[in-house]
Amino acid sequence: MDVCLVPGSGNVPLAEAVAASLGVALVHTEVTKFPDGEQHVRLRDPVRGADVFVVQSTGPPVDTHLVELLLLADAAQRAGAERVTAVIPYFGYARQDRRAHGREALAARLAADVIAVSGVDRVAAVDVHTRTMEGFFSVPFDHISAVPLLLGEVLHLGLPPDAVIVSPDLGAVKLAERFAKELDLPVAVVRKSRLSGAEVAVTGVTGNVRGRAPIIVDDMISTGGTIRAAAEALLSAGARDTVTVVATHGLFAGDALERLRGNWLDRMIVTDSVPQPAAASLPLHVVSIAPLLADAIGRLERREALAGLIWFE
Ligand code: R5P
Repeated sequence: MDVCLVPGSGNVPLAEAVAASLGVALVHTEVTKFPDGEQHVRLRDPVRGADVFVVQSTGPPVDTHLVELLLLADAAQRAGAERVTAVIPYFGYARQDRRAHGREALAARLAADVIAVSGVDRVAAVDVHTRTMEGFFSVPFDHISAVPLLLGEVLHLGLPPDAVIVSPDLGAVKLAERFAKELDLPVAVVRKSRLSGAEVAVTGVTGNVRGRAPIIVDDMISTGGTIRAAAEALLSAGARDTVTVVATHGLFAGDALERLRGNWLDRMIVTDSVPQPAAASLPLHVVSIAPLLADAIGRLERREALAGLIWFE
């Protein structure tokens, strides 16, 4: 069966890099907007009988990219694709995986539902905010992990002496433990509570960070509020002012670049799951997940296992 890669506009350079790695051409698409704002998509190349992979990051603007993913999958299915897989390097809405207050929507579940009814047979997503996301999907879901790539970059840049892995909130503790185990380092945890989409409060640090170089690990950076608050708490607790930050998804929403700027930040390692600023004002190291996605797509196309690409807790 032919492999067809359909790029969404959420991260065209990444889709191009995946296509180059697989040695296939990207399907040409037309994505336009009607005057009233409705999106319209059309595949300009045939996909009948093909194994179609729609590569779309649902990063900012999240709603536009999510709807575009749905339309591309629907177009592929209606055009006779044999199988449609949504490859989602960054999955927006995954943080809304539970109702924290009364009368809220469960957006993560709804996003999974609309993707599943759009004509998608399978989903492969990278370091989604929560493992429970798999249970929200009615179609098979592969949770691919970029953590081995991030670990490789941390080692490539060199571990600072007396480092400590830091989880910036309780949600990232398992991730921190994984980094700590692989790097043979201790773990500390920052206790954070979220006040609003852009504001967090830190109530303390658990673990010994005095005189140590923190390596803060998280799944994503949005406004940078979590990282900034964690760094301030660590410095107050006596940590060294050479902080490394590692996250799969660097969204840098709003004034995040400004918020994260400071002498305390030694280096920031993220992937290209969403497009990264060409000349960032931060000491940014960007690791490409294109080879990871190409490997996953190749295996899915050959009906092979994804062993080694998926992180099971
Ligand atoms: C939250 O649980 C996530 O793991 C991240 O810590 C959070 O989404 C980062 O958002 P922000 O950068 O806006 O604080």
